[in-house]
Amino acid sequence: MAFSVVILAAGKGTRMKSALPKVLHPVGGLPMVQRIINTTQAMDASRIHLVYGHGGDQLKAQLEGDNLNWCLQAEQLGTGHAVQQAADAIKDDEDVLILVGDAPLIRQETLERLKAVKAECDLALLTVELEDPTGMGRIIRENDNITAIVEHKDATDDQRKIREINTGMMMMAGADLKRWLGELRNDNAQGEYYLTDVIAMAAAEGKQIQAAQPDAPVEVEGVNNRAQLANLERALQARQAHALMMDGVTLADPARLDIRGTVTAGQDVAIDVNVILQGNVELGDGVIIGPNCVLTNCKIGANTIIEANSIVEDAQVSSACTIGPYARLRPGAVMKDGSKVGNFVEMKKAVLGEGAKANHLTYLGDAEVGPRANIGAGTITCNYDGVNKSKTIIGENAFIGSNSSLVAPVKVGDGATVGAGSVITGEVEAGALAVARGKQRNIPDWPRPTKKA
Ligand code: UD1
Ligand code: CA
Repeated sequence: MAFSVVILAAGKGTRMKSALPKVLHPVGGLPMVQRIINTTQAMDASRIHLVYGHGGDQLKAQLEGDNLNWCLQAEQLGTGHAVQQAADAIKDDEDVLILVGDAPLIRQETLERLKAVKAECDLALLTVELEDPTGMGRIIRENDNITAIVEHKDATDDQRKIREINTGMMMMAGADLKRWLGELRNDNAQGEYYLTDVIAMAAAEGKQIQAAQPDAPVEVEGVNNRAQLANLERALQARQAHALMMDGVTLADPARLDIRGTVTAGQDVAIDVNVILQGNVELGDGVIIGPNCVLTNCKIGANTIIEANSIVEDAQVSSACTIGPYARLRPGAVMKDGSKVGNFVEMKKAVLGEGAKANHLTYLGDAEVGPRANIGAGTITCNYDGVNKSKTIIGENAFIGSNSSLVAPVKVGDGATVGAGSVITGEVEAGALAVARGKQRNIPDWPRPTKKA
């Protein structure tokens, strides 16, 4: 059955003490509410009604999703009032899944479970048992049926002993929801329109109300302050690391890998400690990542080794390459099969051909390096004249001697050789040797200066 989603995200988030609306704070590299949007999109929700109150411009600029319906709740008069802001857009003949925008770790499997419960009754609640349920709405049951949710502040001492609580996530028919929303009143301890009051209304109509539970309470935990944010971040990271290991990836320490995006990994990938993977990262079979590496939006081919302290961003690396230690691949860096960049080598918008090497202390910017070329230590492509960027082209099998400057635009032909310490400003033809440096002059028996008295 078709269903739409209402995400409650109008709360101020005062305790975050932030200029950023709470639901935009990232968890695993994504705004927390974006995670919830993505999860419900994966479930094929027909429409997502996002109830927001603060920072509308920021939210609209940063969040993305098909079928997003922005519902402004100008004043926060309670969770029931929040859902009322979406009521006009809710269809009678669809189910409505209500979620909270600040509980980003909810899993699709759990929501599918809730949906399956709803399919068997009239109203499905996601509940959880907590050691300490203080502050939460308590689930009231008579025999096996749920009959009400009582908010902590409105609860009697006996009701406060109940440890099964409302997570704020629930599902019911659109027509029912809209009828009950119309009947909400705010005569309670907080003077708010409680969404939770619909439960007693449903029970009074003889509706069947059943509950589903998540595998772990962390899935329904909300974020109110930065300590809770850090908690959920660690929980998500642990979950992601576990999934990678179950997929056959070796992690030196699952607590010292952070994934802020999506990672796919082939067989026998190994990741050492303190690695950060951001955006979309694809790791081929047998890729080895050393300690302290940061990889952002990149594709790494099979059997490539990235040694310690290397940074790779928006780059394409083919198979059997070696990177680092201490290498930096910036956007547009492309390494072909079997190529190598060593320590303190920086690449930007540059292609390193098959089997080509730049082993030490080199800058390759706006460059094309042919297959099996050897770039000596300290080579710099001078790609910027202060105004424009220009290109350096280095041919197949070329050999660039150490400490050379290649002043772009410039071309070094196939098999050409550049003598160490050269400043190359004009084309070097294929097969030629270019030496462009001061000639060595020896002064025999030169007396060193002596200290003056
Ligand atoms: C609510 C539930 C409580 C449940 C708890 C779980 C009600 C009345 N109570 O408590 O049973 O145990 O969540 O965390 O529903 N929001 C709005 N507009 C508002 C008020 C809230 O959008 O006017 C949003 C908040 O941004 C948040 C969510 O609704 O994402 C829950 O609000 P919050 O104040 O955290 O929950 P409680 O009212 O404490
Ligand atoms: Ca509240």
